Amino acid sequence: HKGEHRHFMAKEIHEQPKVVGQTLAQYIARDGTIRLPAGVDVDFGTVDRVSIVACGTSFYAGLIAKYWFERYARLPVEIDIASEFRYRDVPFGAGNLAIFVSQSGETADTLASLEFAKTHGQHVLSVVNVQTSTMARSSDIVMPTLAGPEIGVASTKAFTCQLAILLCIAIAAGRSRGVLSTEDERSLVRALAQIPDYMAHALELEPKVHELAREIARARDALFIGRGTNYPLALEGALKLKEVTYIHAEGYAAGELKHGPIALIDKGLPVIVIAPYDATFEKTMSNMQEVIARGGRIILLTDERGAALAASSGCSVLALPDIPPAVAPLALAVPLQLLAYHSAAIMGTDVDQPRNLAKSVTVE
Ligand code: F6R
Repeated sequence: HKGEHRHFMAKEIHEQPKVVGQTLAQYIARDGTIRLPAGVDVDFGTVDRVSIVACGTSFYAGLIAKYWFERYARLPVEIDIASEFRYRDVPFGAGNLAIFVSQSGETADTLASLEFAKTHGQHVLSVVNVQTSTMARSSDIVMPTLAGPEIGVASTKAFTCQLAILLCIAIAAGRSRGVLSTEDERSLVRALAQIPDYMAHALELEPKVHELAREIARARDALFIGRGTNYPLALEGALKLKEVTYIHAEGYAAGELKHGPIALIDKGLPVIVIAPYDATFEKTMSNMQEVIARGGRIILLTDERGAALAASSGCSVLALPDIPPAVAPLALAVPLQLLAYHSAAIMGTDVDQPRNLAKSVTVE
């Protein structure tokens, strides 16, 4: 039921503070540490590599998690899209962990990759939303996202719930590997516990996003750029926009712009720059200036500190409150989803059932 919303996509975007909170509550213990379920018998201390495999939006969740596993657990991560992973000659190390991320739990390529990893002696953990799915049944360990049924074909709340779980796993791994002190863990968990509030703040940007969406709705192309975890978010922002508006959109690592895509910039091309004030902020700002110099139209998605520093640039700004970098991707995803949604709603496309797309991709 859509309730007060015109589309399931809108309803599902708005549900995120609640469902992400529920998903996290499974793993946050009273003492302010992460407790993985008893069945998660992975000895992160002996694992020397994690493989993460998924498709589409779920793949982008995995790509964000790669940054987390490296930073918080010093654990090497190999990540690939399922339709490539299963055909590669992956040199699996025995007894390593392979994580499969899927909303439906039925995506054919992800499922085949899961079986492939199993036959190569990998410990298989799946992060799935549909708990009765084939993937859930085929895994050694299942960590369910509690997003509830996702009806809109474009994935929104499943994505942020996936991020919540992957961050919990990375923190637990960091503790087991002696990378995070109890103090570090507690401070990360405090940030995790605030995520629903940060997401609620992000939803308050909706009227402003709607205004900006009028401009996007008239565009033929759009570019999304970011560095660090904002790079996978750029990919996700572009995917969301193209799925529901059919506007040609591309996501790029901001530093890669000058290696080709900057040729696309001309007067009026919307460029969505994802740059909260973090370690890469200044670098991304210089990429943004390169775009401005060539006439590109910037929408800057940032936080209050970033907005203050970019005040003189004259671009449109969407500013979230200052958010700890570890959890920022979950909040930053929301305005990107809203931008895609409102652009599509303005254009009058079939938001919940975009042309040519299926909710569950069971063909290879
Ligand atoms: C994007 C989208 C798709 C899915 C992909 C994987 O909005 O919905 O890209 O993310 O088909 O699906 P799951 O997660 O069900 O394996």
